[in-house]
Amino acid sequence: MNIIHRRGWEIPDRFITPEHLAFSRRSLLAGAASTLALAPGAASAQRVTDVAKLPDPSADLYPAKRNEKYTLDRPITDEKVNGNYNNFYEFGTAKTIAAAAQVLAIRPWTLKIDGMVEKPMEVGIDDLIRKLTLEERTYRHRCVEAWGMAIAWTGFPFAKLVELARPLGSAQYVRMETFMDPKMAPGQRQPWYPWPYVEGVTMGEATNELAFLVTGAYGHPLARQHGAPLRLALPWKYGFKSIKSIVRFSFTDKRPKGMWEALQPSEYGFWANVNPQVPHPRWSQASEEIIGTGERKPTLLFNGYSEYVADLYKGLDSERLWA
Ligand code: MTE
Repeated sequence: MNIIHRRGWEIPDRFITPEHLAFSRRSLLAGAASTLALAPGAASAQRVTDVAKLPDPSADLYPAKRNEKYTLDRPITDEKVNGNYNNFYEFGTAKTIAAAAQVLAIRPWTLKIDGMVEKPMEVGIDDLIRKLTLEERTYRHRCVEAWGMAIAWTGFPFAKLVELARPLGSAQYVRMETFMDPKMAPGQRQPWYPWPYVEGVTMGEATNELAFLVTGAYGHPLARQHGAPLRLALPWKYGFKSIKSIVRFSFTDKRPKGMWEALQPSEYGFWANVNPQVPHPRWSQASEEIIGTGERKPTLLFNGYSEYVADLYKGLDSERLWA
């Protein structure tokens, strides 16, 4: 019997929506407010350009001061390369979703903080960003697909958001959710994915100094294909844990089930810490392709961040920490 194995996030080409530039009038209105005059029937590509051209109200905050504590063993990936090699399934399954993602309406953008907190709240992204001090950090980024990059992210420690949220002592995890708008995001019309994209971390992980909420990259506000206006960067874990375009943080005592875990639990779990010695069920994790250079480098335990995070996992040997 001939069995074709596909990666967790690969779907047959025949299922891929061709209308990458599909666009809803509603989402344009949400993003553009009244600043754009809509020409009914105008080419969707033109509308995409219009949304992408809207000024970002946080632009004056960039570039932020670099925190020199987080250094790299490799050059930063070229921005153009990085901005054209993405995983953002809401906009398609190919790596080249950058153009399609430009329809993402990133203002207004409200974050919900709820669950086991003293007082649930909603906060606009700009109010949040301006309450905090942004900094730049260079981090490695390792996808479970065995490729890696290095990025200069701008953002703030996740711990600052936890502080603001004032979780109850009973909260053990933070569950995060991406926006849900199938009219805007063609990938969300593919019903075989359990949308919206969800991810979760323990409170210890959320408050670890490396856990970084990202609002920008390469010295300016975050590009839509990277998960604007707010995404996570957990550099010691496989990239699928670093959820993009977050709209909700819920504090809970139940371990959240991520979208990939819900879809393929035998391959993608809750912890997903990088470990070169534990292969994915269908490929090795011993090394990674450095995107943009074609080079292969040995993969490092916790993606090279053991000194910061190894203690989080002491006594958890019975857990599936590496997938
Ligand atoms: N977040 C959402 N909402 N949707 C996604 O498809 N893909 C994940 C993660 N976050 C994904 C997501 C995966 S598999 C990876 S490797 C990284 O985002 C990719 O981030 P990048 O495109 O900025 O490199």
